[in-house]
Amino acid sequence: MYEIICKSEYKTKEYARNLAGILKKGDVIVLSGELGAGKTKFVEGLLNHFGLQDEISSPTFTIVNEYKNEKISIFHFDLYRLSDIYEFENIGGEEYFNKGICIFEWGELIEDILPNDYLKISFSKQNDDENIRILNIETVGDRFKEIDFYSFLEE
Ligand SMILES: Nc1ncnc2c1ncn2[C@@H]1O[C@H](COP(=O)(O)OP(=O)(O)O)[C@@H](O)[C@H]1O
Ligand SMILES: [Mg+2]
Repeated sequence: MYEIICKSEYKTKEYARNLAGILKKGDVIVLSGELGAGKTKFVEGLLNHFGLQDEISSPTFTIVNEYKNEKISIFHFDLYRLSDIYEFENIGGEEYFNKGICIFEWGELIEDILPNDYLKISFSKQNDDENIRILNIETVGDRFKEIDFYSFLEE
């Protein structure tokens, strides 16, 4: 388990942008944490690396938004309003896993059907400073096991 401290929105996005350098088609990332914890800002940082959107909003009315260029497709899911795992299966959710990079806000809702390998990032706020977020990073399976997640931090 890695504990990453991001002292501003900019730092969270910078961290995500650096981490995005290792991502490839088929990778899955699950983001959890309360509303306003920084999950969507993190996704913006990831997209920055690929030269995609600078500003996005969570896909409120659709469950998934796709961002793509010639090199990669990124599927950004927000499962906050998902009623249950069956709803995800009914929209063919599992078919997205190997089509590009899949990022799930509130992905813990579909934990039972996630692939064997994924990255789990939990965001928490600090009581004493509203600009600080703690990212707890956990790897599931072998795919991300050898990666040093502290290496994406900048001074
Ligand atoms: N260190 C930080 N990292 C990310 N966001 C931060 C940070 N500090 C303050 N914020 C603010 O918190 C909010 C996070 O919003 P958002 O990313 O949409 O959260 P979520 O998707 O988890 O609901 C933004 O308004 C952002 O400016
Ligand atoms: Mg969000």
